[in-house]
Amino acid sequence: MNQWTPQSWRNQPIKQQPIYQNIQALEEVERKLRGYPPLVFAGEVRSLKKRLADVVCGQGFLLQGGDCAESFSEFNAINIRDTFKVILQMAVVLTFAGRCPIVKVGRLAGQFAKPRSSDTETIDNICLPSYRGDNVNSIEFNAEAREPDPERILQAYHQSAATLNLLRAFAQGGFANLHEVQRWNLDFVESQSQERYKHISERITESLAFMEACGINAQLSQVRETEFYTSHEALLLNYEEGLTRKDSLSGDWYDCSAHMLWIGERTRGVDEAHVEFLRGVKNPVGVKIGPNANANDLIALCDKINPENEAGRLNFIIRMGSDNIRKHFPPLLANVCKEGRKILWSIDPMHGNTIKATSGYKTRRFDAILEEVCAFFEIHEAQGSHAGGIHLEMTGQDVTECVGGSQKITEDDLSSRYHTHCDPRLNATQALELAFLISDKLKKATQKTH
Ligand code: PEP
Ligand code: CO
Repeated sequence: MNQWTPQSWRNQPIKQQPIYQNIQALEEVERKLRGYPPLVFAGEVRSLKKRLADVVCGQGFLLQGGDCAESFSEFNAINIRDTFKVILQMAVVLTFAGRCPIVKVGRLAGQFAKPRSSDTETIDNICLPSYRGDNVNSIEFNAEAREPDPERILQAYHQSAATLNLLRAFAQGGFANLHEVQRWNLDFVESQSQERYKHISERITESLAFMEACGINAQLSQVRETEFYTSHEALLLNYEEGLTRKDSLSGDWYDCSAHMLWIGERTRGVDEAHVEFLRGVKNPVGVKIGPNANANDLIALCDKINPENEAGRLNFIIRMGSDNIRKHFPPLLANVCKEGRKILWSIDPMHGNTIKATSGYKTRRFDAILEEVCAFFEIHEAQGSHAGGIHLEMTGQDVTECVGGSQKITEDDLSSRYHTHCDPRLNATQALELAFLISDKLKKATQKTH
C-alpha cells in the first residue's frame, strides 16, 4: 500500500468533488485552516473510541442524529438547543429500556457538504451546478450562487466552532444534569409521547431523590454532565485535511474537525480518495452501506480502514431501505461475522426510504423507517450479533418533512413547515416516538448480555 499522508488522497480518483475556478483562493483558505485551532482534541476522540468499543462488545448503543445538512441561514442557538434536547430525551428513553449506556453523537458542528446524484440541476431549461452544501455553494438557483466559493469553508469552520462551544456548555454546564430531566420536554411534542416521557422522567427524579435520601451522592459528574460527541460526513476533503493534526502525545494523526467521521454510500470506493484519507486518521470511522454492496466490498473496507481489527474503529451504517434490508443484509452480516471482524453495526433507516410525494416534495414514511429498524434488530437476533446503533436525520423543530407518525402528517401537510436544506428529517415528536418504539427491541437485545 502507498504511504499515507494528510495529502495522499489527492493522488486517488475522487467522486463528488466541487470544481473550484479560483485555485489560488482555495489554497489560501487551506493555508488559513491549517493554522486555525482544532475543533476537537485527540483525547476526546480516544474516549469516544473506547465507548464505541464497549458497544461492539454488546455493552451499549450508539445514538447518532441531526440535520441532513446544517445551513448558514438556520444557524441559531434555539435550533442547536432543541436538537440537543431531543437527543437527550431519546437517550433517556433508550437508557431506561436498554439498561445500557447510550453513546450520543450529533450530526452537528460540521455537517455541511452534501453528495448529489447529479452534478447539475435543470429548471426551465437553465442548467446550473447542483447545490453541494453551504460549505461549497448556495442553495439559490442562479449562476453566481451555485459557483463553488472557497470562502464558505471558513464560514463553515467558524459556525462549527460556535456550535461546538454551545454544545459543550449544554453538555457540561448544567443543562444536561439528570436532575433537569423533566425540563428537556419540548412544548409542541404530541401528547402521547409527552406523557410517556413524563412518566420516565418522574421515575428518574424519584430515583435521584431516593439516592440522596440514602446518603448516596447523586451529584456525581455522571449525573451532572453528559458526554456528547460530534460527527459529519467527511466529504469535502480540503476541509478535513486542513483540520488534520498530529497528536503530540501519541504521534498519531487525527482529523480534528469532529470526533467521528463517516464516508457516504457514493464515495466508499476502496481505492478512491475518501477511503484513502480516512484510513490514515485515528478517529472512529463510519461507512454507509447501501443495497448494492457485496461481501467483498465490506471485507476490503475492513482491511483498508481497520487492518488491526480494533473494536470501536469501524462502524458500518446500513441504509438499504425497508424493501431491501431483509434480502441483502443477512448474507453480508453473516460473512463479516464469519471473518471475525469487529464492527459496530448501526442502521440509518432514512436514506434507503426516500420517496417523492405527488406534490414534488422529497419525503419518507414513518412506517418504512420503523420497519427498517425492526428488520435490523431481527436480523441481528437471528445472527446472534449486536444491533449497535441508529443513525437518524432529525431535528428538534416541529417541521413537516416525513409523513406519518402519531401526528399523522400527510403529503398535503408537507408544504406547511418544510425547512430542510436537503433530505426530510424526523421532527421532535417523530424522533421521540421512534425512540419509544425501538426501546422494547433494545431491551430484548441487551437483556441477553446482562
Ligand atoms: C447522508 O447521510 O446525508 C447521506 C447522503 O447518506 P448516504 O451517503 O447514505 O446516501
Ligand atoms: Co441526507
